[in-house]
Amino acid sequence: MATQKIQIFDTTLRDGEQVPGCKLNQQEKLVIARQLEALGVDVIEAGFPVSSPGDFAAVAAIAAQTKDATVCGLTRAVENDIRVAADALRQARRPRIHTGIGTSDLHVQQKLRTTREDVLARAVAAVKLAKSFVEDVEFYAEDAGRTDNEFLARVCEAAIAAGATVLNIPDTTGYCLPHEYGAKIKYLADNVRGIERATLSTHCHNDLGLATANSIAGVSNGARQIECTINGVGERAGNTALEEVVMIVRQHPGLGLHTNVRTQLLTETSALVSHLMSMTVQANKAIVGANAFAHSSGIHQDGVIKCRETYEIIDPKEVGAVDSSIVLTARSGRAALAYRLQKLGYHLERPALNAAYASFLQLADRQREVIDDDLHLLAIEVRNVA
Ligand code: KIV
Ligand code: ZN
Repeated sequence: MATQKIQIFDTTLRDGEQVPGCKLNQQEKLVIARQLEALGVDVIEAGFPVSSPGDFAAVAAIAAQTKDATVCGLTRAVENDIRVAADALRQARRPRIHTGIGTSDLHVQQKLRTTREDVLARAVAAVKLAKSFVEDVEFYAEDAGRTDNEFLARVCEAAIAAGATVLNIPDTTGYCLPHEYGAKIKYLADNVRGIERATLSTHCHNDLGLATANSIAGVSNGARQIECTINGVGERAGNTALEEVVMIVRQHPGLGLHTNVRTQLLTETSALVSHLMSMTVQANKAIVGANAFAHSSGIHQDGVIKCRETYEIIDPKEVGAVDSSIVLTARSGRAALAYRLQKLGYHLERPALNAAYASFLQLADRQREVIDDDLHLLAIEVRNVA
């Protein structure tokens, strides 16, 4: 069955780097950008050029180094931001300017202290100016998640008429429920004139832990680009995690979608970003957490040893993880102990295995995990007794 391509727009270096304490220097940004290109993302959002001379220089350097991916720079709907971004992107083979403005009543009235009509006019002017520099212009309607759909559709329509090629519909505060976000994308797909000339994009934040679910609801309803970050890094509770949406699309062929991401590079990319940003990945993080393919309870271990698929929906090799691991704790059974002993070269018959298991349980009750060093001692002790 032919599947439709979902563009992966990585914003680790822009939205991701907004995390307090995760500042990257230019060299580190270049390393991450190179890795993202190797990973196969379609768009690298390299930064917000007007925000600082350092960010300008980093965006310019990434633009110059990147061969295949589109390189994108963020701007507000402000003339100087757009001119500076265009300048930073001068050497990009595929430059994109990402400009936009808040569209929810909260943003219009409380943040911008203006009117909807003024927001509409500023959006159009920003897209037109960006279009005078680059062909590929993405427009974001900040806080689209809480923007009334009719007004949002008017803004999107005007942005397309002004030349926008991509319409980003951010759930800036991570407020939407998946069915609401999916319905919003469908409403836009069905009601915005000229939508066939533009790509709808999801940009979901994780304040309620729904960023991944919302992004998938978006692409199930017509969006064809997902904005995301490695390890889900980003302000507050973060952004949609790239590794999660990519693997959901891959593991669910029924969605009829695909991405170009080389999934075997997910684990090393996660480790690289975690290291350079000094941001630990939680052990139980989906796809790339240290425990994502670790089994410690006896029932699960017995199943996985007999047939990996009993308790794993992804082959760890597909995401570049070392292998499934059988972690020995006080919840582990004989099968797991025998399996790990065999990997270390000890083939114990039943009586010896039973004795080893009794000693193992005593040890396991005293410590968090029984490691290979403990197992060598245990096996030798049992052999000496036998
Ligand atoms: O979350 C958001 O609304 C954003 C925009 C600036 C695209 O990051
Ligand atoms: Zn964001």
